[in-house]
Amino acid sequence: MQRYLLPQAFHIRYANIHEEHEALLELLNEMKSGGMHEEPGSIRSATDRFLDSLATHFANEERLMAEARYPRYEEHRSHHQECLALASTILGGDADGAQYPGKATLDRIFDLLVNTVARVDLYFEEYLIGCGRLPDRPKAV
Ligand SMILES: [Fe+2]
Repeated sequence: MQRYLLPQAFHIRYANIHEEHEALLELLNEMKSGGMHEEPGSIRSATDRFLDSLATHFANEERLMAEARYPRYEEHRSHHQECLALASTILGGDADGAQYPGKATLDRIFDLLVNTVARVDLYFEEYLIGCGRLPDRPKAV
């Protein structure tokens, strides 16, 4: 099974943002492999756990942005809200409790996460570099 992975260039090097992204991908990978067989009905709980983890991650990022006085906070937060609603629609429409979300559904969620990192998270990292809170990214040789 091909696992969902973020490319190195998408690693956000601030607080535990990257670790939370990895944890979200791990939940997708577990659903993809059908590896969450704790109990009957665990499929619904797997998708709920993903959505809960996504909401928690977004809340954590928003706290970090507020602490850093990030000027694009509202834009980023609005993107989070759209992303969460879309993820809920995508997963809710597929996971009826009878089976794990299919590959096409999980691919859409993965694309959503990649899109979020590309569209908003990397700009937050650039801001942190710009105000000296993070060192610049190492140059490729
Ligand atoms: Fe994020």
